[in-house]
Amino acid sequence: MKILGIETSCDETAAAVVEDGRVIRSNVVRTQFDLHGRYGGVVPELASRRHVEVIVPVVEEALNQAGLDLAQLDGLAVTQGPGLVGSLLVGLNFAKSLALATGLPVVGVNHLEGHIAAGFLTGDIPGFPLAALVVSGGHTNLYLVRGPMEFELYGQTRDDAAGEAFDKVAKLLGLAYPGGVSIEAQSSRGDGQRFKLPRPMWGQGLDFSFSGLKTAVLTLVNREFEGGEIGPKDMADLTASFQAAVVEVLTGKTSALLDQIKVKGLIMAGGVAANQCLRTEMTEVVKRYDVPFILPPINLCTDNGAMIAAAGYYHLAAGHFLDLAADAYSRVPKPISA
Ligand code: KG4
Ligand code: ZN
Repeated sequence: MKILGIETSCDETAAAVVEDGRVIRSNVVRTQFDLHGRYGGVVPELASRRHVEVIVPVVEEALNQAGLDLAQLDGLAVTQGPGLVGSLLVGLNFAKSLALATGLPVVGVNHLEGHIAAGFLTGDIPGFPLAALVVSGGHTNLYLVRGPMEFELYGQTRDDAAGEAFDKVAKLLGLAYPGGVSIEAQSSRGDGQRFKLPRPMWGQGLDFSFSGLKTAVLTLVNREFEGGEIGPKDMADLTASFQAAVVEVLTGKTSALLDQIKVKGLIMAGGVAANQCLRTEMTEVVKRYDVPFILPPINLCTDNGAMIAAAGYYHLAAGHFLDLAADAYSRVPKPISA
């Protein structure tokens, strides 16, 4: 089954063709960093306008790279939520129109399920249940994955997501957007032990909290540098210390879940899973449990259409078609399979 996946939930316009939920035939991502960089974060109105401008060429490119035309597809999958509603609506309405014009079935995919499905695109799945950490700009969620469409939420952030903390800390340090990328680059020569920062909610269950950590960085900066310029060595140590705190909390909580429940493997995905320090540390943690670590390549961790097509495959096969009157949703109040 060849599925065209479309993703426009935030600031990437993405389309991909995936076969049988496993084989990537094309994967086209158009980022909007140029547009939002000067604001230090995503400006929703600008994001949706750019999606409108580029969605047609992005989809055309995905079909061209796959060597397919619309008539050779078996279905469409599109992100329905959570995300920025204005952005989501561009992809959703585009997919609905395409479905009407072609008669292809279309399914609305939960973006978080999509991130987990990036794991299904990454080598063989050792069976279920799996544990999954979705760590992105909007979410920090720990799941038990009982099947390709069955998810149980075990832990989540009480306030900011990990990616949001990267972005906010980068902004307060005057670093470029997206924050995760610039903090990772700055921290590469830094000493992550130099500045003592909290490990929020350490030892207190599986939930996360990152807003206090951001405030702790702000307090530290005000105390140590008193509003003055931060030199390169201090910046490297500061970003490395912040990154070390986030990574320790993420690996610690994931380890706590693996202590609680016997699983056949761990999937880690979402934009923050692109972080090399997190990838290395989590690899070490998972080794202790003697289960496979399913870690998608970086281009499948950040937002993309292939993960949406992969998740959509299972729903299309199960006949979960999108009601063409259905709306986009900005948040998911319940576990993602509900
Ligand atoms: O999954 P994603 O592309 O979009 C959402 O669903 O939110 O994640 C974007 C987030 C941003 O907060 C960005 O700063 C973060 O992922 N990110 C990173 C890295 N690359 C992207 N965080 C840490 N290290 C990175 N290398
Ligand atoms: Zn995402």
